[in-house]
Parts: sequence; structure tokens; C-alpha cells
Amino acid sequence: NKGNHRHFMEKEIYEQPEVIAHALGHYINMIENRADMVSGIDFARIPSLAISACGTAYLAGLIGKYWFERYARLTVEIDVASEFRYREIPLSPQSAALFISQSGETADTLASLRYCKELGLKIGAIVNACESTIAREADAVFPILAGPEIGVASTKAFTCQLAVLAALAIGAAKARGTVTEDEVQALVRSLAEVPRVMGKVLNSIQPEIEFLSRELSKCRDVLYLGRGTSFPLAMEGALKLKEISYIHAEGYAAGELKHGPIALIDENMPVIVIAPHDRFFDKTVSNMQEVAARGGRIILITDEKGAAASKLDTMHTIVLPTVDEIISPMIFSLPIQLLAYRTALFMGTDVDQPRNLAKSVTVE
Ligand code: F6R
Repeated sequence: NKGNHRHFMEKEIYEQPEVIAHALGHYINMIENRADMVSGIDFARIPSLAISACGTAYLAGLIGKYWFERYARLTVEIDVASEFRYREIPLSPQSAALFISQSGETADTLASLRYCKELGLKIGAIVNACESTIAREADAVFPILAGPEIGVASTKAFTCQLAVLAALAIGAAKARGTVTEDEVQALVRSLAEVPRVMGKVLNSIQPEIEFLSRELSKCRDVLYLGRGTSFPLAMEGALKLKEISYIHAEGYAAGELKHGPIALIDENMPVIVIAPHDRFFDKTVSNMQEVAARGGRIILITDEKGAAASKLDTMHTIVLPTVDEIISPMIFSLPIQLLAYRTALFMGTDVDQPRNLAKSVTVE
């Protein structure tokens, strides 16, 4: 049932404040009361963590890698499952491995899980479908509690995966003693803000998304740039746009721009820059200057602090509330998802059932 929405995808985008609140309720309790039990994985003892998944779930994992490394000082090996399973990675049996899958049935992810299990690693699964094969074969199951996701393009499952990964990374940091109790409290408070801030953003950005999507629907190619956790989010933005609007898009680390893709920049190529006012902001701005100097049209997605600090001439700047760094990927997902959705509407594509795609990929 789509309720008042035209598509399941739209409904699922707007459901995010509610489902994330639900997921966070579950995990924040676990962090506060029993950090050691956030897991069933002994984060204090493992030498490293492996993560594998496909598509959007993989990009959530990539953001998780930044968090586990930064907060829990845990080395993370990550790859798309179709590569991970064949790479013969020298993994320690003392390590743990996390597999992320909305459906819990993705063939390559399941094969990677079985490969790690064979090697003796402790297996965690971040899944939406708790009755799935991946959930059944894991030692520890971390439900994302997003409710059924019908739209083929993943939206609420992605942000719920992020919420769970953030909670696990904080739990791991607490267990490993790499953050102080005050820092844990501050991170948890930031996480708890997500539903409210998401609601506020969803209520306010509609008009500018509408206007920008009309522009994007006239383009053949779109480039997304970001640094830090905004880099995987840039790739997610590009993936979402191509899968439902069929417009070619690429997501790049902002610092890689000058190593090739800058050759593509001209006045026909919009560049969507994801840049909250974080540690990387100034560097990303200097990459934007390189784009502007070559006539590229910039759509900047930033926060209030970033908008005040950047003097650049952009085609448009979307200004989101300023939030703690750990939650910005969840908040910045919203304009990314809505831009893809509205652009697809202008293109007249079948948003919930894009051509050639299946919701659950059970063959290799
Ligand atoms: C993109 C998308 C896919 C899935 C991927 C993994 O919007 O939905 O990239 O994320 O096929 O699926 P799950 O999470 O079911 O393993």
C-alpha cells in the first residue's frame, strides 16, 4: 500500500524518520546498557574486521568502514561480494566479518559469508529480512528494522543500514576503549537526532529538488563528488540516479578529480558536490573551484556552516541543517534520493520497477 504516495520509492523515502527511530531505539539501548553485547561479535578482541556486500549495501559498508576505523581504531577490509569471494584475502580466523544485505538472499554476499565461515571467522549479518538465508547462516544477526522495502532502488534500507553500522561502530569503540564515555554519550546523542532532522529536511527541500531535477533530466551525464564518508555517498547518489532515471552518472572521491574525470567538465556536465562543513570542507571547496574554473555547473549540497563559508558561485546550493559528522551521511542521503526520484519522474521511467533490475539478486 503506497498510502498518499505515487510510488513505493517515494513512500519509503518519507518513511525514513520513523523507521530509523525504530532501529535506533533498538541499538542505542544496546550501546548504553551492554556495549559488549552490541554484537555477539567480540569487538574488543578481534584484530580486524572484514565487510562485504553488493550495490547500495556495499556503499553503506564503505561508510561503515570509515566509522570503524576512526572511532573504534579497527582495520577494515571491504570489497564488493563478487570480488571478495574470489580474492583469496589472507583473513585471520580471529577476525570477524560483517555482511550487509537488505534481502538477505544476494548470491554473492551469501557466498562471501560461507567463505569466511569456512575460514573460521565470526559472522555478523546486517539484514532487513531476518528469516533470510544470510540471517540464518550468521552467528550474530543485526536487524535494520526498516520494514518491507518494495521499490527496487534501495532508500530506507540504506539509511537504516547506516544507522546500525554507526551504532555498531560506537559500540565497538566503547568496547575497545578507543573513545571516552563522554564521547560515546555525545555520539549517541547525535544519532538520536537523526529522525527529527530528517523530518525537518523532508519537509523543506521539495521545491528546490523539483527545480534541480528538471535540470538534471535534460543532462546526459552527471558527476557526484565527495570526501570522507561523502565519497561513498557520492557513489550512492550516482548509482541511484542511473538505476532509476537511466542518466549516466559517476561518483568520485573529490581528490581524484584532477586525476582524470576533470577532462569531462564542461557547461553541459552538472557536478553535484556533497560537502558538509567537516574536516574536509576546505579541500572539497578547492576541488569545486577547479570545476568552476572550467565552466562546470555546480550543485552544492552542504550545511548552514558550509554555505556561510563557501564563496563559490554555484548553480544552486542545497543547505541542510548543521549536524554532527557521524550523522551527516544519513541526512545527506535525503537530497540524493529525492534528486534521483524526481529526475526519474521527469524522465517518465518506471521508478519502482526500473528496466533490467530485480529486487533480489539470487544468481551470481
Ligand atoms: C540499489 C540496490 C542494489 C542492492 C543490491 C544488494 O538501489 O538496491 O544495489 O543494494 O542488489 O541487495 P541486498 O541488499 O538485498 O543484498
